Amino acid sequence: MWNFPILPESASSVAPDYDFAFWYEVAVGVFFTLFVLVLVLGLANRYRRGRQVDRSHPPTHSLKLEALWIGVPLVIAMSMFGISAVLYIKQFSPPGDAVEIPVVGKQWMWKLQHPEGKKEINELHLPVGQAVRLKMISQDVIHSFFIPAFRVKQDVLPGRYTEMWFRPTKIGRYRLFCTEYCGTDHSVMGGWVEVMSQADYERWLATEQAGESLVEEGRRLFVLNHCAGCHGENATVQAPRLEGVYGRPVPIQVGDRVEFVQADDRYIRDSILLPKSQVVAGYQPIMPSYQGQLSEEDLLKIIAYIKAIGNRPAPGPAAQPQYDADRGIQPAVEVPGYDVDKPPGATLLPEQTR
Ligand code: CUA
Repeated sequence: MWNFPILPESASSVAPDYDFAFWYEVAVGVFFTLFVLVLVLGLANRYRRGRQVDRSHPPTHSLKLEALWIGVPLVIAMSMFGISAVLYIKQFSPPGDAVEIPVVGKQWMWKLQHPEGKKEINELHLPVGQAVRLKMISQDVIHSFFIPAFRVKQDVLPGRYTEMWFRPTKIGRYRLFCTEYCGTDHSVMGGWVEVMSQADYERWLATEQAGESLVEEGRRLFVLNHCAGCHGENATVQAPRLEGVYGRPVPIQVGDRVEFVQADDRYIRDSILLPKSQVVAGYQPIMPSYQGQLSEEDLLKIIAYIKAIGNRPAPGPAAQPQYDADRGIQPAVEVPGYDVDKPPGATLLPEQTR
């Protein structure tokens, strides 16, 4: 048998959909290429010089023909748009059960860490059927994470988190690539995704020392870097409490107004590296920057920790107000002098700030 695969193996939940879109567009392209070619050759032959054919009364227009060549391409183009739009929406809607795995790209390797704490370089072990959401960032130049068999690819940028999700559907070993030219060893910046049965995966997780979980490491860094000194329970300095902040709108002082921003990964990362850029309303800009002191991996761990304490209400007087749909946006942290019932006039909805 000849071995000439046109497409890589199809091993994720979205792969068949992407393949359908691909073959559909190829089919349309091939059909019209042949259609035009046949017409060109046929008509050139029929009306070639010296041929005895009726050349009188050439038609000046045909409404039917016009309607056809406007209508048919319109329907075909819109169907392509429809298929792509559905895929695009799918691509940016990770399922709720997706496990988040942080990925750091650097010249020239991929560093990944499982929530349980296990670290991997240029390899990713996964149980089959488990949806995975990669939260990715680069610590130097632009890279791009590509798993052909899963039909997923996403740029990995310095200074900004990007995400990508997939659900592997077939046990096997699949190539993973960096697909953005990133320097001398770009071509070797790749590895393997190993999709295993649930039992094999658990066995794999259990082997070797996994160390602390991601959240546990984040908590340790939180204390080690003196974050807890100001944001912790027994803090003497006035700083916003972080319990319950993740995913909630935070009031930010902008001039003499208060605006709301969503406390997402980007916001927390910025708050650590550029604390003066967005100061929580009612607080002094006294937090020092941690630029250059924390690696991208450290930042991901600290964010994982802050996220983990996100659903836990803060104890004591700084307890979180419960989110109340009727009352609209409420601060995720308690702001002295800020009245929940009378939100300031010029505020942004959390969606608008993203
Ligand atoms: Cu990293 Cu190419």
